[in-house]
Amino acid sequence: MERLNQIIAAHAGREGPLLPLLHNVQAEYGHVSEEAIRTIALALNLSRAEVQGVVSFYHDFHEEADARPVLKLCRAEACQARGVDALAAALPDQERVRIETVYCLGLCSVGPNAMVGNKVHARLDAARLGALVETLA
Ligand code: FES
Repeated sequence: MERLNQIIAAHAGREGPLLPLLHNVQAEYGHVSEEAIRTIALALNLSRAEVQGVVSFYHDFHEEADARPVLKLCRAEACQARGVDALAAALPDQERVRIETVYCLGLCSVGPNAMVGNKVHARLDAARLGALVETLA
């Protein structure tokens, strides 16, 4: 709770503090808990529903803790045209990683693409995607 209050204090005086604050909370705790939502709403003079709405709208925020590694899979048009949906459907061990959908990683010509941490993995096929998941799990 003390760390949450420090994060809030670091953002409270800034313009448009909610999104960067939520990103920091997500990074620190791995999720944005119900208690954090209530505390942030009170500190920023917002309703709980306003903060809850932002948390539930953006895929980067999670209300439940999930320790699985995250693989962000691009499902935008260019990667779809290159078969990302079939790759995702055939992916083994889907329970071992949290697969999140993103829309364009900026490397459309070399898709299908995925991102782990800050690294983009391009030209994925079934073998490469499977190997990538294997390294994460
Ligand atoms: S559509 Fe997938 S990287 Fe742009």
